Amino acid sequence: MTRPRVVLGVSGGIAAYKACELLRRFTESGHDVTVVPTAAALEFVGAPTWSALSGKPVATDVWTGVHEVPHVRIGQEADLVVVAPATADLMAKAAHGLADDLLTNTLLTARCPVVMAPAMHTEMWEHAATTANVATLRSRGVLVVEPAEGRLTGADTGKGRLPDPEEIFELCRDVLERQTTGAAGTTLDLAGRHVVVSAGGTRERLDPVRFLGNRSSGRQGYALARAAAARGAEVTLVAANVTLADPAGVKVVRVESTAELRDAVLTAAAGADAVVMAAAPADFRPVHRSDTKIKKSDDGSAPVISLEQNPDILKELSVHRPAPGTVVVGFAAETGDASGSVLDLARAKLARKGCDLLVVNDVSGGAVFGAEDNEAVILSADGTAVDVPRGSKGALAHVIWDQVAARLPSA
Ligand code: CTP
Repeated sequence: MTRPRVVLGVSGGIAAYKACELLRRFTESGHDVTVVPTAAALEFVGAPTWSALSGKPVATDVWTGVHEVPHVRIGQEADLVVVAPATADLMAKAAHGLADDLLTNTLLTARCPVVMAPAMHTEMWEHAATTANVATLRSRGVLVVEPAEGRLTGADTGKGRLPDPEEIFELCRDVLERQTTGAAGTTLDLAGRHVVVSAGGTRERLDPVRFLGNRSSGRQGYALARAAAARGAEVTLVAANVTLADPAGVKVVRVESTAELRDAVLTAAAGADAVVMAAAPADFRPVHRSDTKIKKSDDGSAPVISLEQNPDILKELSVHRPAPGTVVVGFAAETGDASGSVLDLARAKLARKGCDLLVVNDVSGGAVFGAEDNEAVILSADGTAVDVPRGSKGALAHVIWDQVAARLPSA
């Protein structure tokens, strides 16, 4: 099997050093990487570093090795071009079709998927010129990843950070995989859509040190967020007590309890095209929350903790759709019992909740929680059932988005 050919474009920003890590991830996982830095990028990280890590010579201009016509060949032969970091200047050039160095030439000749991961100061990212250039690039099918929020160069913080290189790698791998498995025509089928995903398990505090919780790791929800971002969606991920890294290009809102999850999901869902409730919200919360630590008593008696029911967010979203046509997806972990099989109970739950799709996991063996892979049946309100055989949570995520995409009203 030929190694996937990746062009790593690096433009001149301080985050260029993080592209070394991205390069390593690509080469260590068997990709053939050609690094094309701009002249400004070499002010931050020198050519020997790119050359040593990629195992190839590195050029910034179109005059090196002219007999091989690199300004055309590199782009033509690529399976994926990723520019990380993409500066405001590089995106402005790309949006206007300028071609004054090897990277901008490569961007004009590439016919494969192109991913750009911008990194710059908030003011530059929010400038009308950058906004317009990003919109132009997106309208031409470039996957421009939303920058992360956090510490920028210097003391200031804000939107404009390069996402975690590991997460940019995961996004690129996802795009490449869909490209090679023939899903290329639909690679950015969620572009222009806003989707909300909830993930993780909520915690209901009993006192300052204790809570009622559950075993949800958040992996399936994070895989859903990643997959949607790789398909071009604007993604808000409402995460309850998850310790995983933020997926590239995804807005992450952190919550603790079911009440907080409900508020955050309903706020994010206003006008959304789809909401996927992959979180495991606690169904009950303590009626009283102690402000001080609950102590053992000398007589050996245990405290009685009264619970009250939390709101059912999925049901609320299904009944009061955030927008006409919002597709609402729920999850169900079922074991089956005397009253019915896993699928019987799931069909009843789908009807009870009123959502469009219900992703059903058979948890009789206790498998799913925290595991790397998953298998499921996706039931729909229109009566279909799609079996998804055991595979990665990322693979299941894409089948779920396929089902969602098929039900979205045309944009
Ligand atoms: N869910 C929710 N709000 C809750 C509880 C659950 O939105 N308070 C969502 C979950 O995110 C999931 C789906 O509902 O998408 C299934 O949750 P589950 O607890 O299995 O449903 P229940 O109706 O509580 O079913 P059961 O009676 O089997 O517990």
